[in-house]
Amino acid sequence: MNTSISTAYNYKVVRQFAIMTVVWGIVGMGLGVFLAAQLVWPELNFNLPWTSFGRLRPLHTNAVIFAFGGCALFASSFYSVQRTCQTQLFAPKIAAFCFWGWQLVILLAAISLPLGYTSSKEYAELEWPIDILITIVWVAYAIVFFGTIMQRKTKHIYVGNWFFGGFIITVAILHIVNNLELPVSFTKSYSLYAGATDAMVQWWYGHNAVGFFLTAGFLGMMYYFVPKQAERPVYSYRLSIVHFWALITLYIWAGPHHLHYTALPDWAQSLGMVMSLILLAPSWGGMINGMMTLSGAWHKLRSDPILRFLVVSLAFYGMSTFEGPMMAIKTVNALSHYTDWTIGHVHAGALGWVAMISIGALYHMIPKVFGREQMHSIGLINTSAHFWLATIGTVLYIASMWVNGIAQGLMWRAVNEDGTLTYSFVETLVASHPGFIVRLIGGAIFLSGMLLMAYNTWRTVRASQPADVVAAAQMA
Ligand code: HEM
Ligand code: HEM
Repeated sequence: MNTSISTAYNYKVVRQFAIMTVVWGIVGMGLGVFLAAQLVWPELNFNLPWTSFGRLRPLHTNAVIFAFGGCALFASSFYSVQRTCQTQLFAPKIAAFCFWGWQLVILLAAISLPLGYTSSKEYAELEWPIDILITIVWVAYAIVFFGTIMQRKTKHIYVGNWFFGGFIITVAILHIVNNLELPVSFTKSYSLYAGATDAMVQWWYGHNAVGFFLTAGFLGMMYYFVPKQAERPVYSYRLSIVHFWALITLYIWAGPHHLHYTALPDWAQSLGMVMSLILLAPSWGGMINGMMTLSGAWHKLRSDPILRFLVVSLAFYGMSTFEGPMMAIKTVNALSHYTDWTIGHVHAGALGWVAMISIGALYHMIPKVFGREQMHSIGLINTSAHFWLATIGTVLYIASMWVNGIAQGLMWRAVNEDGTLTYSFVETLVASHPGFIVRLIGGAIFLSGMLLMAYNTWRTVRASQPADVVAAAQMA
């Protein structure tokens, strides 16, 4: 019995996080669909503060980024770090604390945000007691992750772990610096920074939440699951190292592109713009490295829907990291800022990249940690099902937002010969209505794919036998 424990991976915490990724994905995207419906039919605000767009929007962003994305990152990093280091997870009790602590954070967010408790910083809305809990859970995460690396049986630290490690350290720093605040009561605090400094710190955080939470962590996932699923080594290991250092060095400077034409000093805005343009290079380097890993295995795309999820996610990653630098150019941003173009860009990254790579990784990982050969139904992932629902849903979402965004930008800046505005704000809103409907349809299609995934996962888990689970965790 003892030997089996000491030679077995800790998959329990991976299973827990994997299941909750699917659950929070449905909750978070369900909220997204509801918000999209509110923008089509404002009556759905029900005239109640708790169900108003303003309170549910941060609930959506927190649910999809930190609950769905966070659980996917915990699951995949705890799974791949054990396997690439050929060792068990360090401190299993602390790993279990990470799971329960993170779920508590999510629960507290789900209660406090609809009640209107917010620090009013985007993606950092949660009030100070929850911020402290996040810090404790994150330190626990770092202990488990780096402890596992320290006790590795392999000589080398695989590149995927560098990305996960960079993500864990940087998110800790971002969280602490941006949330330095003065509590005035148990539920209210004020930022320690003021004015333009506060804005700069907030968007240094905001952009790097994108760069490290939504990008570096998921690149760690990419470097493990793409080669595994394609059964090919990473295309260029040397490029992956250059990719890592270039990405983490450059991302940290690009935050000011969120504050173009504001009170921020002009030189800081220009610096943010230039750094964003340079960021295109490592982003595409990583994307190409992931894609080219399929060299000699392209034919697998015909039959392997999991690989399709992973490769299409890389295509959307490439697309959104081309679009981002373009939007960072001041003259382009003058058109795109405040419009739905930004929302389209966000979801090209969020649905196309973050959600699709997570779905691919989960379809690879779930059967493995539940001791099954494969998911209950490959057909549900493939033929006219989840893969297509996710792809079509994403395309409808982003295409409608591009059309809306460009129309809004052009209508807002149109002036008559006498210098008065050509269109009123309400006229722009009316013109945006068809786009809102298409986005709602796209979002509902994406969500329906997630429901199929939940069913498929449920059937896979139900078919799993305790003996299979024990056997699956044995180290090779
Ligand atoms: C079914 C899928 C989804 C739907 C229908 C949806 C819908 C929406 C809607 C309606 C908004 C508000 C837009 C506005 O204020 O005009 C929004 C904002 C946002 N969503 Fe989603 N969403 C979905 C999935 C996701 C996912 C998976 C993520 C992240 C991983 C995500 C991240 C965000 C972010 C970051 C914002 C704020 C954007 C900003 O402030 O610029 N969404 N979403
Ligand atoms: C090279 C990479 C990227 C660059 C240079 C970049 C640049 C930008 C720019 C210029 C904006 C608009 C700022 C504004 O006008 O307010 C923006 C917004 C945003 N981007 Fe990106 N982007 C990149 C990649 C990504 C990826 C991969 C994701 C998602 C996974 C993402 C998520 C977001 C979000 C959530 C926002 C909205 C922030 C807000 O206003 O709430 N970006 N990005």
